[in-house]
Amino acid sequence: MIDLHCHFLPGIDDGPDSEAGSLDLARAWLNAGVERIVATPHVNLRHPNRARSIAEAQQKMLLALERENLGLKVETGAEVSAGVAIDMPDDELGQLTLGDSDWLLIEPPTSSTPFALHGSIFGIRGRGWNILLAHPERNPAIQEDMDLLVSLVDGGIKTQVTAGSFSGRYGKTAARTVRQMMDKGLVHTVASDAHHAVLRPPEMSAPLTEAGYGAMADWLCQEMPAWILDGGPEPRAPENTKSPKKGLLGRFRNRG
Ligand SMILES: [Fe+2]
Repeated sequence: MIDLHCHFLPGIDDGPDSEAGSLDLARAWLNAGVERIVATPHVNLRHPNRARSIAEAQQKMLLALERENLGLKVETGAEVSAGVAIDMPDDELGQLTLGDSDWLLIEPPTSSTPFALHGSIFGIRGRGWNILLAHPERNPAIQEDMDLLVSLVDGGIKTQVTAGSFSGRYGKTAARTVRQMMDKGLVHTVASDAHHAVLRPPEMSAPLTEAGYGAMADWLCQEMPAWILDGGPEPRAPENTKSPKKGLLGRFRNRG
């Protein structure tokens, strides 16, 4: 699997605060079947990282991974807040894309009017950038009005949902919203948004499968992330089938 959104590099945002913490995360990814990640530190007002600070932190971690013999492939990107990205010159934004692609991982504003949300996202898109929208299922404006997201997707935006949203890690509203998004075909990738090996772990396909969407896991956790990073023809979505819960009702149905 390929994780397109995580906080892996130590000491530069609210992810791990030490190299040891980052190495714990690396081991957790490998145990979960993730072989390639894009480290996406925050680029926002609170964590004003830039390409240089991210590259320096990555170089140190690449050496640490090699020393520990951990075969995790790490590329860099950033989780850029929409409010920062809209004012950032294109040459700076171009150094914050996911891997070598022209895709930006953009964090929607948490408190904004629907108008401001659309204005900022389409403002960046209008400058020619491909946008992967970070965890829209956790955004209050989108939770309130799914049509907002429909129009963003109609305008060419792709979405990344956080695996833990399926299991309720981010609350009931996010869990309900992510299911609505799945029903409407509005989910294009799943990522961990991991910050810590235990407290916010690098989970990927497990919560998805647990929620009954196992048939979509390869497409969401492997094929679409690979397409975003490496290009080529866009992989076709499998039929959006949700397996019935193995509850009492499911058992009765199976008997019929
Ligand atoms: Fe994040």
